[in-house]
Amino acid sequence: MSQDIHAERILILDFGSQYTQLIARRVRELGVYCEIMSWRATAAEIRRFAPRGVILSGGPESVTGRASPRIPKLVLTLDVPILGICYGMQSLATQLGGRVEGSRTREFGYARVQVEHPGALLEGIADQMLEGGRAELDVWMSHGDKVTVLPPGFRVMASTASAPIAAMCDDARRIYGVQFHPEVTHTRQGGKLLERFVRGICGCTGLWNAGSIIEDQIARVRAQVGTDKVLLGLSGGVDSSVVAALLHRAIGSQLTCVFVDTGLLRLDEGNQVMEMFARNMGVRVIRVNAEREFLRKLKGVSDPERKRKIIGRTFIEIFDRKAAQIRGVKWLAQGTIYPDVIESAASKHGHAHVIKSHHNVGGLPKRMKHSVLEPLRELFKDEVRRIGVELGLPHDMVYRHPFPGPGLGVRILGEVKKSFADVLRRADAIFIEELRAAGWYDKVSQAFAVFLPVKSVGVTGDGRRYEWVIALRAVETIDFMTARWAELPYELLEKVSRRVVNEIEHVSRVVYDVTGKPPGTIEWE
Ligand code: XMP
Repeated sequence: MSQDIHAERILILDFGSQYTQLIARRVRELGVYCEIMSWRATAAEIRRFAPRGVILSGGPESVTGRASPRIPKLVLTLDVPILGICYGMQSLATQLGGRVEGSRTREFGYARVQVEHPGALLEGIADQMLEGGRAELDVWMSHGDKVTVLPPGFRVMASTASAPIAAMCDDARRIYGVQFHPEVTHTRQGGKLLERFVRGICGCTGLWNAGSIIEDQIARVRAQVGTDKVLLGLSGGVDSSVVAALLHRAIGSQLTCVFVDTGLLRLDEGNQVMEMFARNMGVRVIRVNAEREFLRKLKGVSDPERKRKIIGRTFIEIFDRKAAQIRGVKWLAQGTIYPDVIESAASKHGHAHVIKSHHNVGGLPKRMKHSVLEPLRELFKDEVRRIGVELGLPHDMVYRHPFPGPGLGVRILGEVKKSFADVLRRADAIFIEELRAAGWYDKVSQAFAVFLPVKSVGVTGDGRRYEWVIALRAVETIDFMTARWAELPYELLEKVSRRVVNEIEHVSRVVYDVTGKPPGTIEWE
């Protein structure tokens, strides 16, 4: 390996902000490796991590509360630069001898701060200049408490009318605090501020990029598995596809992929997966055509949760059976990514964020006695996508909308039948094709068709039709926890509707779902 891409690292201490992962993604985008640790991290963990700099996140609590989260003492004695954001700034102020006061009113939204003394962090960064050369920044604030007395050695870096100490600095000790959120895009110069901190003040040079991540992972995988054989459950989704491409590059024919075609995939998806991996890339892929087995097990079942369980269980049984036939496999590869690692660490510590987590049927059976290989464990989804493109996977595949593990099984309401799945596949393909053609595919977060087992009357050129209903769903969301229905242009909806009814004889009606989440969920089941 030419260079250790983990050599320069930033520690992000999490005080429970909803934006903590966003801070980490921004730092990674700047080409610098970082990890998130809880504010409860031990001194030994922090020392072992040996950060070049520390960023303290925001958080929902008040530093004035008893037993509120605190910065581990070690961090304040490491002699590395520190940037406290919101709660992070307030805890710096409290622990270094300043003062924070609670407030009943919350400041939330856009604010304009005046730069009083830029210090090394804000030097030359401005949205507009006032007469006399003072800079102003347009920022995103979200806080109730505020710093009212600076700790010794600090100066006011920026202020607003309601928060006279909106940012503070001690350039000699390289400690900075900002009340606003530089990690959100609403803070226009936020990226520059973080870049100044991570690159300028902490001195990180940017070793972390798609090319170097791939090189690093290839070397690690080779060192880890040696000449052993590796098995991967390939689903066609982004994560397992990128793992396949990466492992293929690292260990070639030592990798065998098992692709279970459940019969609940999108139009032609099974063939596309085989075309891409087996034929184009030369990956060893075993395809298991299991449509009949899935449909048999789903026969007569209409309860959504039972359907999910049956699909998940059947998937594992089939994968297990196939894996048992492949000799000499020592490793099972998985597409675990960094947010999964963060979530499971949080739930172990008993303070999980309330994020709905779904079991993907691509998950591998726990009882299999293999070592687990997780080459994407350190990466965020956007990094997985970037390395996917770098590894030669097609852009459209890598940037595809998420697709649930149970596939069309949860998009055919009630009992799943092959004839329904065939109708749904065609309707979904028309919808997606038209979204792409109109330039809307990348503007929405997820879009798909749903099969409603309800018959409705229609008239077509040749007479009366009594056929099924297709619902279209398109949503915009950041985190899939809440979502807005997308305001697709009427002409686009009209075109999709016309094509679906004209091209698929078993559909008589098309409807568009205008339910947000909450109260609806994104999927219909
Ligand atoms: P809901 O319907 O809960 O969906 O608003 C939120 C996101 O999760 C996906 N989803 C699933 N993914 N297995 C999965 O792997 C599932 O059982 C499942 N159910 C929902 C959904 O597509 C959306 O992106």
